[in-house]
Amino acid sequence: MPFPATRLRRLRGTESIRRLVRETRLAPDDFIYPMFVQPGRGKKTPIAAMPGVHRYSVDRLAPVVREVAEAGVPGVLLFGLPRRKDERGSEAFARDGAVQAAVREVKSRAPGLLVITDVCLCAYTSHGHCGIVRRSGRSFEVANDPTLELLARVAESHAEAGADFVAPSDMMDGRVRAIRRALDGTGHENVGILSYAAKYASAFYGPFREAADSAPHFGDRSSYQMDPANAREALREMALDAEEGADILMVKPALAYLDVIHAARKRFDLPIAAYNVSGEYAMVEAAAQRGWVDGERTMLEILTAIKRAGADIILTYFAVRAARALEM
Ligand code: PBG
Repeated sequence: MPFPATRLRRLRGTESIRRLVRETRLAPDDFIYPMFVQPGRGKKTPIAAMPGVHRYSVDRLAPVVREVAEAGVPGVLLFGLPRRKDERGSEAFARDGAVQAAVREVKSRAPGLLVITDVCLCAYTSHGHCGIVRRSGRSFEVANDPTLELLARVAESHAEAGADFVAPSDMMDGRVRAIRRALDGTGHENVGILSYAAKYASAFYGPFREAADSAPHFGDRSSYQMDPANAREALREMALDAEEGADILMVKPALAYLDVIHAARKRFDLPIAAYNVSGEYAMVEAAAQRGWVDGERTMLEILTAIKRAGADIILTYFAVRAARALEM
């Protein structure tokens, strides 16, 4: 042994010293809670692959929203389902759509809660793709520029309902600029954009597609969402979104992309968000239900890792549970 012997364990000996030297601290302030809103009345539908997560009709939102606020979670992210789907996803920008009504409801029940809305078409289109589809024979294309106009209308309708931030998740090129323009042109200069800037074509979205009924009916999303193999390309996506006016940049999913979160944190001054997605949640829940892992410890370890990698904001279905665990 060299003298003095290196004794890193001095900094681990007691809970007090561990608290003093802890480098990463989770707090309820870090979280955003994603919620699913469906048409109709009196509905609270469980989502099989996401134990503890439900789809609510607007009239059933109030108690949950109160719980989120009481847990100290600063905000929610709203996803909607339509009454009817069509080729262009028209109900995504209906004034009386589920999300638009939910925004008004959350704002009236918990005025201090930040309301962010997901802007996309996949839950609203009859084909399940995130934009306008052009078919030719057996192949198809998701048309970029025509989709931008629709996305801008969706964002505007959310802002009109009172959303604080809109979160485009479609991965069309140029949507941040198109949305920023539309918002500014309609008096919504104060509505922010949380961009799903580096969003990967991921298998981890499986449970979400059940929740939002948004799985594509043919093909997949790999012509618009990113290839999981690419990290440098993620930085180009983020740089473009920053230039186009995004206020917050998001990486999604989180766990398999901690390197991307880390690189984004180093490169950009904007707040970095990470989406701990449905499949990541489902894996923990499934293993915990079997007694294979300790659910609460696994949850906190994962959330800590996402923050340690560089995320300032974590969107997670664990938000309320984690906030409560941290406050104890
Ligand atoms: C819509 C959208 C998806 C998610 C958020 N917005 C699914 C997808 O792209 O297929 C996934 C969220 C999750 O898995 O928790 N485009």
